[in-house]
Amino acid sequence: MRYQRPIGTQDVTPEIAPEWRFVEESFRQLAGRYGYGELRTPVFEDTDLFLRSVGQETDIASKEMYTFDDRGKRSITLRAEGTAPAVRAYLENHLDRTDKQRLVKLFYVVPIFRYDRPQAGRYRQHHQLGIEAIGSSDPAVDAEVISLAWNFYAQMGLTGIKLLLNSVGCPSCAPAYVEKLKQTLAPSLPELCESCQRRYVENPLRMLDCKVDHDRMAAAPKLVEELCDECAGHLQQVLAVLGALGIPYEIDHTIVRGLDYYTKTAFEFQIEGIGAQSALGGGGRYDGLVEKCGGPPTPGVGLGMGLERVLLARQQLGQTLAGTAGFPARAGVFLVALGDAVWTEALTLLQELRLAGLKTEVDYRRRSMKAQLRFADSELFAQAIILGEDELAQGIVGLKDLATGEQVEVPRGELLERLK
Ligand code: HAM
Repeated sequence: MRYQRPIGTQDVTPEIAPEWRFVEESFRQLAGRYGYGELRTPVFEDTDLFLRSVGQETDIASKEMYTFDDRGKRSITLRAEGTAPAVRAYLENHLDRTDKQRLVKLFYVVPIFRYDRPQAGRYRQHHQLGIEAIGSSDPAVDAEVISLAWNFYAQMGLTGIKLLLNSVGCPSCAPAYVEKLKQTLAPSLPELCESCQRRYVENPLRMLDCKVDHDRMAAAPKLVEELCDECAGHLQQVLAVLGALGIPYEIDHTIVRGLDYYTKTAFEFQIEGIGAQSALGGGGRYDGLVEKCGGPPTPGVGLGMGLERVLLARQQLGQTLAGTAGFPARAGVFLVALGDAVWTEALTLLQELRLAGLKTEVDYRRRSMKAQLRFADSELFAQAIILGEDELAQGIVGLKDLATGEQVEVPRGELLERLK
């Protein structure tokens, strides 16, 4: 029996791991510079946390969650998105330190599980680079979240990115808009697709981002024109800051997002050329979510970026590490041990070098010098140390530069100094 990985998942093998690490580390550093601290939450949570926050009628809650009863008969769900766990952790760990006005800034790099239909760029386990800023309703914070993503994509060498922006209003203006939307669409309801007919009843706003009836939705009333004064003012200020930061945007009234917790700002980053799954990242404001999760009324705004989609876009644009000049760079020393008599000394030296901070390897198959040197070169080691019986007797080693082929003799006692 040969096993295969579950459909819609990926193995990250040593050949591609450096590319993943590069993207993750770049994000961590950037988030750190913006003042976000790392949050790690469990891979699974109470099912109810996701149902309450994401919304029961959403695709995620109704058909995509990995939910099961554990042996104690508790309903458990694998992390279906990052915001609800962040809010839960914010409350549970009192991250506001009892100052309700305090802005708490969190970032995470985590796997997310959704029973989606797998295709290029869409997986059942994907990873998100996410940030959440909890505790401020200032439009400048919405703009900070957006600008972090914008600058991150630029740093990743991605071009051709569009920022699509909308406001989904708040409980005081959104319901009236939804009524108006339903009234407008009611006459054409029989002609709309099956999913629109279902959404008409369960989640009318989501009709706006229907792929099938997309063109019809152009005629639907626009939420940005129906906002209350507060939401309209908020949007204008977000746009003003984005303008000042030089971040271009398009207002797109079909951006409503697939999660129910959004209020006011909602946005998505899209890129062409990575296939149907062009959403590189998305997010928005969620001013009611903390309260919904049992906390005091607390505003919040955040974003999640699909890691695999960044990798895919980098690949398509030829931005892989393997493609950059000088990468992969030569590094480390290969210890060529020749003969049984030197083996113990070689293993001691191996440990000494590793503990001194050098990447060092030996050939446990103990092949010929030629075979070992060829291997060391193909594995891109920078140098080789040659230790045979003669060298051992004389208290020296041979030190070979694998890039130039140049070789010198170095007294054993000076080796470490020389390598550093
Ligand atoms: P989301 O739009 O569901 O938002 O996901 C964010 C991003 O994750 C997407 O734009 C996409 O790049 C990536 N993504 C989503 N599903 C998949 C998949 N099946 N395969 C590969 N990549 C995928 C959220 O999850 C919100 N929690 C974002 C947020 C944070 N809003 C406020 N704070």
